[in-house]
Amino acid sequence: MNPFTLQDGVLHVENVALDRIASEFGTPCYVYSRAALEASFREFQNELGGLDALVCYAVKANGNLAILNLFARLGAGFDIVSGGELQRVLAAGGDARKVVFSGVGKTGAEMEQALAAGILCFNVESAPELERLNEVAGRLGKVAPVSLRVNPDVDAKTHPYISTGLKENKFGVAFADALAIYRRAAALPNLAVHGIDCHIGSQLLDPAPFAEALDRLLALVDALADEGIALSHIDLGGGLGIRYQDETPPSVAAYLRPLLHKLQGRGLKVLLEPGRRLVGEAGALLTRVEYLKPGEKHFAIVDAAMNDLARPALYDAWHDIVPVRPRSDVASEQWDVVGPVCESGDFLGRGRTLALQAGDLLALLSAGAYGMSMSSNYNCRPRAAEVIVDGSTAHLVRRRESIAELYANESVIG
Ligand code: LLP
Repeated sequence: MNPFTLQDGVLHVENVALDRIASEFGTPCYVYSRAALEASFREFQNELGGLDALVCYAVKANGNLAILNLFARLGAGFDIVSGGELQRVLAAGGDARKVVFSGVGKTGAEMEQALAAGILCFNVESAPELERLNEVAGRLGKVAPVSLRVNPDVDAKTHPYISTGLKENKFGVAFADALAIYRRAAALPNLAVHGIDCHIGSQLLDPAPFAEALDRLLALVDALADEGIALSHIDLGGGLGIRYQDETPPSVAAYLRPLLHKLQGRGLKVLLEPGRRLVGEAGALLTRVEYLKPGEKHFAIVDAAMNDLARPALYDAWHDIVPVRPRSDVASEQWDVVGPVCESGDFLGRGRTLALQAGDLLALLSAGAYGMSMSSNYNCRPRAAEVIVDGSTAHLVRRRESIAELYANESVIG
């Protein structure tokens, strides 16, 4: 569902004009649609209806409390990668018993925190992590539920920075080592082996690699069962792509049905960890043109920058850039849309055909995932405000940072 539509010549999110949001909350500002967030979650739920399954939203995509809270109310679980994300989930009303903990570098303190909260499962990514978790759980008198993240060595055919299921990536245990590590896990007194998981990459547009990865995992599930290690769940990770430019990502049904078919009759609970697909298209970054600088190259300097949305600078990612009030009184030109940060890499889009005047508002679409969550304070820029629109109401769900907050933890030395 695309919640961003032109109504009477003005770009709206649901029933609220984006220029109203800009005047009320200022720019740069992230704007999300409640209806779109909920619709994307329901798309997963509809496909899983009746099955023993849990959608664990990948918090890293966007950890705003209001978004976590909306998903929690719909019954979501959460995929976390730090103690900070766990605290966020609990603060938002999420249920610890529906939390899976991924990540290659969990600290002892984070393990303690997650064990105390009573999470559903630790997605363990290496043999030494397993030993440490056993030791920490023993110290707390607890038994830690574990899954092994197995690296199935399949090519997700996505950007190399966000491909995670190849042998050369740092994630998970190598497929060839998995059996031996499971045997060790089963022998450790303070661990309970519950599941198996994988995550092969992000922004996948072809469902085939998911099926390939699942086949490899199921072969392991069978080999483990032969040894008397019976698993109760399988976690297929996240990774389903969205539309940024002209991609045609598979529907949730086209992605899930072949996977669910392979899982039929196995009695395994199914866990998923979607991030981008749940929030990406539901959000936009609203920004205002400060200056036009035509020349050899035409630059439109806007008030959002790489610190607000890092994806273009980091991955050369494309986000559609659309005017909030499309105008016909000036000619279209090719503009490089750039921010005020002192880096040549600080661009949001290059060579975009737009009819612009200084003061115009622009929206960068499909910015709900890995936008705000990857933002920084570089150049001492306060992070943007975040707003959720619900029908005709705009809720401020994170106020803009103040400059004083940026150095509040700093001190000078004598
Ligand atoms: N599970 C695990 C273990 C992950 O590492 C990730 C994402 C997800 C789930 C969620 O994947 P998704 O459904 O969102 O594709 N910053 C990059 C994306 C990095 C993804 C990292 N892992 C970007 O802006 O494209």
